[in-house]
Amino acid sequence: MAEVPRVTHAPNSGQVAFQQDGAVYHGPTGKGDGHMTFNPPVADLTSAKVRTQLAPQLIRTVHKGRANSAMGKWENVLSDQDIEDVVAYIRSLRD
Ligand code: HEM
Repeated sequence: MAEVPRVTHAPNSGQVAFQQDGAVYHGPTGKGDGHMTFNPPVADLTSAKVRTQLAPQLIRTVHKGRANSAMGKWENVLSDQDIEDVVAYIRSLRD
C-alpha cells in the first residue's frame, strides 16, 4: 500500500499561525465570529473590504496593528515569514 506522503514543508503554515493567534478573536474561519466582542468590532477577514486590499497593506496591518482597536501589532510575535504566510492565508478566505 502506498505510503501517505510526508509533508516536508508547510504550505499551510499561514493557516497554522492564524489558528494559533488570530482565530480566537477573528473566529475560526476569520469571519469575525470569535468568542469576544470588541469596539470597534473584530474585522471580518473574508469581507470584500479585506479581500480587495493588496498583500502589502494587510502585511502592514498585521505588522503594526491598528491604533485604538484590539488589533495589536504582531511584528514582535510573528516572523516576517509568518506574517506573509498568514496574510496569504487570509487572502485565500472567501465568504
Ligand atoms: C495572527 C493573528 C491576527 C491576524 C493575522 C489579524 C489580521 C487582521 C487584519 C488583516 C485586520 C485588518 C482588516 C481590515 O483592513 O479591515 C484586522 C483587524 C482587526 N483585528 Fe486582527 N488579526 C489577528 C489577531 C487579532 C487579535 C488577537 C485580536 C483581538 C484581541 C484582533 C482584533 C482585531 C480588530 C478589533 C480589528 C479591527 C480593527 C479596525 O477596525 O481598525 N486581531 N486583523
